[in-house]
Amino acid sequence: MADAAQRQIRLGAILEGVGAEQVSWRDPDLPGDASIDIDWYIENARLAEAAKFDLVFIVDSPYITPDTAPHFLNRLEPLTLLSAVAVSTSKIGLVGTLTTSYWEPYNVARQFGSLDQISKGRAGWNVVTTGLEGAARNYGRDEHFEHGVRYARAREFVEVVQGLWDSYEDDAFPRDKARGIFLDKSKQHRLDHKGQFFSVAGPLALSRSAQGQPVIFQAGESGEGRDLGAAIAEATFASAESFEGGQAYYADLKARAAKLGRDPDLISVLPGIAPIIAETDEEAQAIAARQEGSLDIKKLLVQVGRAFNYHDFSQYALDAPFPDLTGVTLNSYKGHAERIIRIARQEKLTLREAAYRFGIFRSPFVGSPETIANELQRWFEGRAADGFILRVTRPRDFALFRDKVVPILQDRGLFRTEYEHATLRGHLGLPVPDNRHAAAATQAIAAE
Ligand SMILES: Cc1cc2nc3c(=O)[nH]c(=O)nc-3n(C[C@H](O)[C@H](O)[C@H](O)COP(=O)(O)O)c2cc1C
Repeated sequence: MADAAQRQIRLGAILEGVGAEQVSWRDPDLPGDASIDIDWYIENARLAEAAKFDLVFIVDSPYITPDTAPHFLNRLEPLTLLSAVAVSTSKIGLVGTLTTSYWEPYNVARQFGSLDQISKGRAGWNVVTTGLEGAARNYGRDEHFEHGVRYARAREFVEVVQGLWDSYEDDAFPRDKARGIFLDKSKQHRLDHKGQFFSVAGPLALSRSAQGQPVIFQAGESGEGRDLGAAIAEATFASAESFEGGQAYYADLKARAAKLGRDPDLISVLPGIAPIIAETDEEAQAIAARQEGSLDIKKLLVQVGRAFNYHDFSQYALDAPFPDLTGVTLNSYKGHAERIIRIARQEKLTLREAAYRFGIFRSPFVGSPETIANELQRWFEGRAADGFILRVTRPRDFALFRDKVVPILQDRGLFRTEYEHATLRGHLGLPVPDNRHAAAATQAIAAE
């Protein structure tokens, strides 16, 4: 009972400008340049902060085509934009997505470490391995890393970054002006990492923030992706197609973490959601039906193709069985691609049916504010989620969620009414990690 009273829903806001689908950008209330207008991000981060959200979240990937969804076609780089949001807010967490496949750990440690200092302990890093193979050619490679290699590299990458973040013990800088001692050299530590993928000496020229280290988020659906999340994540960004699917992922991820000796309660599972909210259930259902009626099969095929590295599905007959994709790459969004093939086979779907099933994200949250709040509560209490990351594009939808849904969750004691902490770790109930060198020194003294 005590646990139920203490456990609170976590809420994040994905600031997604003109939208990761093909429809939202035409909303008359949404500025056409929202995705590249820093004032749009700042305004929405402040609105999320006023509603006591845990965090804002920025998705990203380093490859586009002419068919890519509007927000992805033209958007700001996450760390740059989050730095601006950091100085325009004071409490809300700031989570940015960055791939481990095309960066160096030293850069990433420095960038997120800086965001953590700039924001005074509010930074989080969403670790992704990049699905789209075209990214390789933006970074001097002909071919994308193979899926398994991407995940092995990600594991070592995060280990190096976290090692660099501990370069200084928290009391490394006496800054004693009278005695002329700026640094206590015994509290600066090299990393001297030599591994399969990286060789990094360190130390990093940056000390730890108020929350010790940025929070690690992770997103990946395949077995390898879940294993990485179970090993390193303090929160996962998951997909949310159904309550049962959410429960299955939640149980699986937490079981994998427990097997590794981790406390599953210290990992928040946060599905991305795009609820359809209206004053009444009937109105919300009507909006959902209108959206359904305006779907364009060509665009749906492009969306299905994205999971297969933008494979061209327009070449197949629409009403024939879902095509045999032998020889088509699964090295892209592997977990998602495998799920499409499996379900299409099991349910004997035609390509047209598969396009309508997988070519659009259909929200399981449709209804009045009360209905939405009930459903969020059901997912939370039924262990399909520890919280939710709301896609923010259209102003009206975000306002309805903040003004109508959040107060219901607050009235039910499921969501905070005031911030109790000023760091992202504080919001998520995560401990400040000990500096590994200070902890080792303390242990050595205790053992003497
Ligand atoms: C819910 C979810 C969100 C993701 N968000 C991003 C993202 O913002 N940027 C990105 O490059 N990859 C993103 N990915 C891709 C993964 O990091 C990974 O590269 C890809 O899905 C292939 O791994 P998988 O087969 O384990 O899913 C996301 C994956 C999932 C499941």
